[in-house]
Amino acid sequence: MSEKVIIFDTTLRDGEQSPGASMNIEEKMQMARQLARLNVDVIEAGFPIASEGDFLAVKEIAQEIKGPIIAGLARTTKQDIDRAWEALKYAERFRIHTFIATSDIHVKYKLRKTREEVLEDAINAVKRARNYTDDVEFSPEDAGRTKLDFLCKVIEEVIKAGATTINIPDTVGYTIPWEFGDLIAQIRNRVPNIDKAVLSVHCHNDLGLAVANSLAAIKNGARQVECTINGIGERAGNASLEEIVMAIKTRKDLFNFVHTDIKTEEIYRTSRLLTQLTGLIVQRNKAIVGENAFAHEAGIHQDGVLKEKLTYEIMTPESIGRSSNELVLGKHSGRHAFRNRLEELGYKLSEEQLNEAFKRFKDLADKKKEIYDEDLQVIAGELSLSMPEAYTLEYLGIIGGTGIVPTATVKIRRGDQVVQQSGCGDGPVEAAYRAIDTITGIPGRLKEYSIRAVTKGKDAIGEALVVVDFDGQLISGKGSSTDVIEASAKAYLNAVNKVVMKRGLKEVKDEGP
Ligand code: KIV
Ligand code: ZN
Repeated sequence: MSEKVIIFDTTLRDGEQSPGASMNIEEKMQMARQLARLNVDVIEAGFPIASEGDFLAVKEIAQEIKGPIIAGLARTTKQDIDRAWEALKYAERFRIHTFIATSDIHVKYKLRKTREEVLEDAINAVKRARNYTDDVEFSPEDAGRTKLDFLCKVIEEVIKAGATTINIPDTVGYTIPWEFGDLIAQIRNRVPNIDKAVLSVHCHNDLGLAVANSLAAIKNGARQVECTINGIGERAGNASLEEIVMAIKTRKDLFNFVHTDIKTEEIYRTSRLLTQLTGLIVQRNKAIVGENAFAHEAGIHQDGVLKEKLTYEIMTPESIGRSSNELVLGKHSGRHAFRNRLEELGYKLSEEQLNEAFKRFKDLADKKKEIYDEDLQVIAGELSLSMPEAYTLEYLGIIGGTGIVPTATVKIRRGDQVVQQSGCGDGPVEAAYRAIDTITGIPGRLKEYSIRAVTKGKDAIGEALVVVDFDGQLISGKGSSTDVIEASAKAYLNAVNKVVMKRGLKEVKDEGP
């Protein structure tokens, strides 16, 4: 009988912590709904004490999302644990995930504590969390560099205190697959009460080995993996969910002792949604979800695939839900069909949003012959995410061409006021951004910029994704239009609106994991 590997998704916590990946509450809700459709077992929704925004997001996810267990992160302090519970208590099923570093480097330099104090803090935290729930996870941070004797002692004691999941993080992505696999085997051999808890792993990708390490851990008895969509996360990221899941599925011959419950057909959509929400583009050749992952370019490969797919294809694009680009609706489609399709795609729009979305759909259908799922996702995504926007683009005019200094004229609404400014730049996008900066008085430095066609065809919607640096704060933004300069201006303004909103929320700044 094959055992289940619990998929613990930390996209909204560890993933969201990475620069440029921050999401507002509506965006997190949308991601959480999609993670539930993907059928992950646990959603780590955030770190409730880190900021008011994090707290509210965890609380809303706990209130709405049914199915997966909702987890919240907490250090070992009473305040952290209580705050996590405050946010999580509404969930159908919830987990408090508490952690403290155990490696000598962290204990000595970061925590400035003794090992005895760390052990005591860990035990007390688990006991406190157990007063709130019987689902408590403990992580000895930097376990990958912790002395084995101390690691085993901590694990044994926290299990006695009531921890039901023990998570082994390779926090700095330092270990090598056979070393990490061996660590898991040693823990299983040396901790006498280890069978009373689920053994989990959490691997970072600094050496590009996070997925390999996670698979080695499964081979040695780990039955939960912590991972993120597209592998986003601190520094080089976390282990990528889609890679782990598809490795287990594709190599059933080697992994016949385990399975996951992930609906793999939802993988591609989840990956795309995350890119849309954060602006973090997936590299073209990324395994499973990269643009080229199923593209056969070399003639010899194409020839092979045409004769027999198995020659170069170890899994099908359909198995991750990638056959899309389906023509779904046309100019004559009615409101009913439109609403149905949006619901199938997982969007929950209010009546008012639906009216606006339908109007935009009709406008688009007038400009563009064929409407695909991706077009609908852009329209609905924009509306279902629309937070109260401080600034909205009313008008954009561009003068440009060979030998002309590109100049943009922009009109922006803020409340009842409409302000107009012009700007020049090396290109039309820069000119538009300069004009926007002058109007808002919130200058940003463009760190990343990309534009892509959402679907095929010259008339496709262009989707611009930007990451902007506002005084050291990296904020992503997105915008779409059949006019790419307008899409670019909207994306920039979207980032400005997020920074306005963020600055409005009181940050309870604290030291993160
Ligand atoms: O990388 C890490 O150690 C973590 C822990 C909080 C699990 O993210
Ligand atoms: Zn981590």
